[in-house]
Amino acid sequence: ARTVRLALIPGDGIGPEVVAEAVKVLDAVAPDDVVFEKTTYELGAARYLATGDVLTEADLAAIKEHDAIILGAVGGVPGDPRLKDANIERGLLLKLRFELDHYVNLRPTVIYDGVPSPLAEHGPVDFVVVREGTEGPYVGNGGSLRKGTPHEVATEVSLNTAFGVERVVRYAFDAAQKRRGKLTLVHKTNVLVFAGSLWQSTVNRVASEYPDVAVDYLHVDAATIFLVTDPARFDVIVTDNLFGDILTDLAGAISGGIGLAASGNINPDGTFPSMFEPVHGSAPDIAGQQKADPTATILSVALLLDHLGLGEAATRVRDAVVADIESRDGSPRTTTEIGDAIASALTPATALD
Ligand code: NAD
Ligand code: IPM
Ligand code: MN
Repeated sequence: ARTVRLALIPGDGIGPEVVAEAVKVLDAVAPDDVVFEKTTYELGAARYLATGDVLTEADLAAIKEHDAIILGAVGGVPGDPRLKDANIERGLLLKLRFELDHYVNLRPTVIYDGVPSPLAEHGPVDFVVVREGTEGPYVGNGGSLRKGTPHEVATEVSLNTAFGVERVVRYAFDAAQKRRGKLTLVHKTNVLVFAGSLWQSTVNRVASEYPDVAVDYLHVDAATIFLVTDPARFDVIVTDNLFGDILTDLAGAISGGIGLAASGNINPDGTFPSMFEPVHGSAPDIAGQQKADPTATILSVALLLDHLGLGEAATRVRDAVVADIESRDGSPRTTTEIGDAIASALTPATALD
């Protein structure tokens, strides 16, 4: 049997609730000849408040030994003064993405039949945002002068390297080639001229190697218009770390809710474990109440299965999710009830899986 060493980071707020359901589905779908060996890491705001640790070197070294990671969500109530010094998001989540070289943040959007999307009309919506994951304004390349004075100056400089842009752009072209052959670069080249020029020239150059992929470009503000008015036009969107963050919450909202939006932080080279997590956060407003939709985390398990080369199991998870979504009649269900329904709707594994 093949053993997959899986690190679980349930995290804070609704994280543990949704990860429990995702693990339930993973166990139900696991092919007979694959053993998922799971180790749980208690990390996040709760761990920090209890011990003062955000992510120790020992934690990081241990996590690196795994084949893949499932993360729920980390972070406390925005603005909680006790967490100010910790910066869990940067010290834990971004630290993992950077240290594990998750340069592709893959965030698919599908509007499933039967989902009450807030969009009045839309065609068949099925696109994926390839969000750069290790650079851009997220690198912490900033500082402040005269802090706390009326003359405070703050900088937050976006870092874009030819190497970093090219590798994610190539991934996006490969993805487009396997899908419907359309790639949209989203940036703000009219204002962010230096980074914009690097992104645009990289896309132009790589495009010449993919004559079967149609390329277009949208400024990020216009992209938000078309995500609402004509989301069916998109196939693969490639964009920087911050634009990708914002566009994928919007994508979640148009496709029936942030509770459905899945993501994978991928290290395509396989040097480090990839990490699968919902797009949403720890939702302190509904934590501990069994109100969270675990579907986003369950669909992130499907991305994990794809990544592990277990595509048939991934398809079974997606089919079970679609069946569950189609059966929704608007009456409220608990997190556990949704997880149970999806796990029990899984079609039996075939011998070949
Ligand atoms: P959030 O995504 O946690 O919540 C935004 C809104 O969406 C809330 O009303 C919440 O109840 C709702 N929501 C989120 N997930 C849901 C689900 N599965 N089912 C139903 N409703 C859901 O965003 P926020 O409020 O900006 O952030 C809360 C905390 O989470 C912050 O500390 C933030 O930094 C952190 N965060 C962490 C991650 C992560 O770990 N990957 C991602 C985003 C935010
Ligand atoms: C996400 C989150 C993170 C991000 C935060 C919590 C650092 O919003 O995964 O989308 O901005 O990437
Ligand atoms: Mn986000």
